[in-house]
Amino acid sequence: MRFDFCNPTDIRFGQGQIAALDGLVPKNAKVLLLYGGGSIKSNGVYEQVAAALGTRARVDFGGVEPNPVFETLCKAATLGRSARVDFVLGVGGGSVIDASKFLAVMLGTDLHDPWDSLVANYESVKPIPNGAVLTLPATGSESNPVSVISSDTRHLKIPFASQAARPAFAIMDPTTMQSLSRRQLENGVVDSLTHVLEQYLTLPVNAPVQYGFSETLLEVLIEWGPVLVETTGLDACENIMWAANQALNGLIGAGVPQDWSTHMIGHAITALYGIDHARTLTMIMPSLLRYKLDAKKKMLARYGRRVWKIAGDDDRTVAEEAIARTEAFMARMGCPVRISEAVSNFNAADIIRHLQSARQTKLGEASDIGPDQVRDVLALAA
Ligand code: NZQ
Ligand code: ZN
Repeated sequence: MRFDFCNPTDIRFGQGQIAALDGLVPKNAKVLLLYGGGSIKSNGVYEQVAAALGTRARVDFGGVEPNPVFETLCKAATLGRSARVDFVLGVGGGSVIDASKFLAVMLGTDLHDPWDSLVANYESVKPIPNGAVLTLPATGSESNPVSVISSDTRHLKIPFASQAARPAFAIMDPTTMQSLSRRQLENGVVDSLTHVLEQYLTLPVNAPVQYGFSETLLEVLIEWGPVLVETTGLDACENIMWAANQALNGLIGAGVPQDWSTHMIGHAITALYGIDHARTLTMIMPSLLRYKLDAKKKMLARYGRRVWKIAGDDDRTVAEEAIARTEAFMARMGCPVRISEAVSNFNAADIIRHLQSARQTKLGEASDIGPDQVRDVLALAA
């Protein structure tokens, strides 16, 4: 398939790279440093960032939530405008970096409540520059164009994408992962795995480069994910941090059909039940793959043979076994593979309503997953 691919984010990977901020943020920048609930204040990351920024003019805004909330970002935008900042630096996990990119776009407008105009026209706004210091590998947000933002007043969680909002740079120091809880490490591994699968398990096209790289990323996540959560060793931190970035920086998705239905259903589950992003994916994906087995059979069989080394000539049998192995891996990573494992008062109709409000009614690589199909998947996943 025809594609454009431009990933301009300057990546600085490895121990000690936070110091590189001094050369990456313009000397005369007025910086808004955006962070989350305070992990960076207790693990030494904040001190390193502050030292690298030196005497640059700076205001800090903390308190970005996991699953960042638009109404909080309106307060950050008010601070940014009054301090006349011209650079946003996000320091944290995917939530903070999504928020930092979205805030950079908000600061490119002069509207106090730009939700509706950004829903309609996000990509047309010229954001102010932003950069990222990543502390939780999972989302790939540090070098991609997407921000997933929730609105409390609208009860919605939706993705916004703008090529101009990609961070100018992404600092990835794997030693920052040492303070992550086991749960967050598990989340990061399965979120990245799901990102690869949603770009890979679709319809076969002529894309051996993308497929081969996807398979390598899957193998790395499957081999090193358990090592990471059990040992938090530096080798594992390095491998997972890089794999998570590559899983969603646009490369493996270039020129291939993409699915993302698990993600859109998952965002609705987070919006309505507050479940961690990654755990909503593991509740849905095995059932979605079983439901779409016929349409996805060729790629599922390729995945089974190449990644899981499943023997056999019958594509359907190999595909079914590949789904079972994926589900077992998600469970091994401590994640629920059925909705009822994590939600007791689940109501499918609310999920359908969320998808309709978010205009996500033609999901999947063939746009053939609508409300009726989502209802079937949710019943399988119950
Ligand atoms: O807020 P702080 O105090 O920093 O604590 C965070 C948060 O509580 C903590 N944490 C992060 N780094 C840490 C740390 N704790 C100790 N040590 C560290 N080094 O971890 C908790 C979760 O952080 P969060 O940023 O919410 O996690 P994640 O990176 O998984 O991001 C999830 C968000 O990204 C969106 C999700 O929907 C969700 O809102 N996504 C963004 C995507 C994108 N931009 O392309 C794609 C994804 O599919 C996803 O939808
Ligand atoms: Zn995700």
